[in-house]
Amino acid sequence: MTEDNELVYGGDYNPDQWPRETWDEDIRLMRQAHVNRVTLGVFSWSSLEPREGEYEVEWLDTIMDKLADAGIGVVLATPTASPPPWFSLAHPEALPVRPDGVRLVHGSRDTYNPAAPAYREAAVRITRMLAERYGQHPALRMWHLHNEYGTVSHGPVSDEAFRVWLRARYGTLEALNAAWWTAFWSQGYGAWEEILTPRATQYLPNPAHVLDFKRFSADLLRDCLRDQVEVVRAVTPDVPVTTNFMLPSWHHYDEWDLAAEIDTVSIDHYPAARDVEGEVHAAFGADLARSFNGGRPWTLMEQATSTVYDYAAGRIFAKEPGRLERNTMQYLARGATGSLFFQWRNGRGGAEMFHSPMVPHTGPDSRVFREICDLGATLGRLGELAAPPADGGPVNRNRVAFVWDSTAWWSSETRAMPTDDLSFLDAVRAAHRALWWEGIGCDAVRLGDDLSAYDVVLVPSKLAVSDDEAQALHRFVEQGGTAVVWYFAGSTDELLRVRQGSFSGAFADLLGIRVEELHPLAPGETVTLDDGTTGDCWSQLVQLRGAEALAHVTGGVLDGVPAITRHDVGAGAAYHVGTRLEPGALRRLLADVVARAGVTRDHPAAGDGLEVVRRHAGPGTYLLAVNHDEVPRALTVDGHDLLADRPVAGEVVLAPGAHLVLRETARTPLPARPVDPVQPTP
Ligand code: GLA
Repeated sequence: MTEDNELVYGGDYNPDQWPRETWDEDIRLMRQAHVNRVTLGVFSWSSLEPREGEYEVEWLDTIMDKLADAGIGVVLATPTASPPPWFSLAHPEALPVRPDGVRLVHGSRDTYNPAAPAYREAAVRITRMLAERYGQHPALRMWHLHNEYGTVSHGPVSDEAFRVWLRARYGTLEALNAAWWTAFWSQGYGAWEEILTPRATQYLPNPAHVLDFKRFSADLLRDCLRDQVEVVRAVTPDVPVTTNFMLPSWHHYDEWDLAAEIDTVSIDHYPAARDVEGEVHAAFGADLARSFNGGRPWTLMEQATSTVYDYAAGRIFAKEPGRLERNTMQYLARGATGSLFFQWRNGRGGAEMFHSPMVPHTGPDSRVFREICDLGATLGRLGELAAPPADGGPVNRNRVAFVWDSTAWWSSETRAMPTDDLSFLDAVRAAHRALWWEGIGCDAVRLGDDLSAYDVVLVPSKLAVSDDEAQALHRFVEQGGTAVVWYFAGSTDELLRVRQGSFSGAFADLLGIRVEELHPLAPGETVTLDDGTTGDCWSQLVQLRGAEALAHVTGGVLDGVPAITRHDVGAGAAYHVGTRLEPGALRRLLADVVARAGVTRDHPAAGDGLEVVRRHAGPGTYLLAVNHDEVPRALTVDGHDLLADRPVAGEVVLAPGAHLVLRETARTPLPARPVDPVQPTP
């Protein structure tokens, strides 16, 4: 995707929506904005195959040639996220069916059933056509397979495929009935044909059934991706392959599994908040992307230049001037290969006509396009960041990891939980947010991964834990690691069967506690701890079995019960957090835990809104610092300021909103020599 000395810059380009006169202007403006990459054809199926089996590719031939002539590389997409209307009419059985039986039809996008042979065959056919026609094209840099996999379907085709998947997983109906505990509410299955996907039903569905359906649906999407990977790898073995993940709210597949199928991970990422929480969000998405990509540089396939739809609020909101560049620096700090956007030019019509592009409706004479040109020039000065670390290590060297686990996410969505307030994503976000404010970098991991690179592993709300996973964490601690395990984590096995003897039973020995009773809290209800902090959502009756209590509940039926515990095991320690700590308390706890584990920040000045991250690239290291604070912030550095192109040694003051990209010459601070404050981008 990247040359070693060039960051990628550009976005989704949809020339098939525009008359040809616009194309030459597009290319002229792309050159003006320093664009070197576009993503072509993401939703162009009806333009490429207007009738089944009949291709119209002259437009794509022409634009690929024009882009090649302009020196702009192409990330060529397969348009399979949006089958055209002819497809639904010809193959109604391949349309998605909702749990209530309603069959959806074209008119929006993503109307297909990933289990349907007709869809899979049509997707493979158009993928092969594109691979064979453009595989040797000089503009081609990367394959972008599909767009944001995520369609889930019920109905007869899915039932059939679900049964095949279940047979492979369980072998016998007896094993399936035992795993799903089907004697409860008379759900025992006597024949495979009796099993349906979890449709709309009278009352609460069987949680194990629901969880397996989510796993099955995720595997199906992985198989759809595999179909396409196989085609393009056969034709173009040297062209890298990606598919774009929608992070972090779109969770219909397992990112680790999909990442294993492709050459490089890419993500689409949109801010969820107007305040600094948007910056925490950018850091979170980037940390996930890098982790899914094994610590290697990854592709930011989409972000927004300005206005983003906030569907919950029912309006769009605009990024204030300068925020785009700040966010981009955050992504770069955490390993992005550059920045691509949705999209180059927004359509005059269509469902997302007010989502911001690089060239807005108001044209190039606009604040957004000027910022886009400036950002393109800025990235042009940062090309050396693109080189992968010469030592083969990860782009960021973090010593803290948090567990990211699809089963954990899906099981907390099964409606059989002690409280609806248990959200895996929220728990992970709270931990990540606390570390962000503390200035500590972190990676996502699975418990089955090699954890030896880490000093601290956080396990927020992972309900379903297998024996192997529990043993892996135990070994990590015995060998000197520090684990922090949140309430309710490990209360079931991987089949969602409750562990006997203690809640959080998978980790009871490790934590040195027994959790005897659950006391979830009502909305607005809190518990106060004897260190003066509070928690909400959760409380529980805990007995110590070797652990020491660091804080207790005060008042109420749980008065005096341990709320935060620590257990020394082997050369390490395991902490348990028995309530949803208020943000300040969680931050203090994690700060203390990481400090005791000997973990330090990438820079001592990092934290409290001054983001400072070290990126490894080529033979060197780079500090990227962004001041999200409302006051100037100082940090001591020694290196070469890539944006100003001058050496800097000593104290640098970053004005609010300003950033600095520094090629480091030494890690030890030199005597302070004040330099001019760096001003934010206007
Ligand atoms: C997603 C999609 C794009 C577009 C943007 C903006 O991430 O991939 O096609 O819909 O969001 O909403």
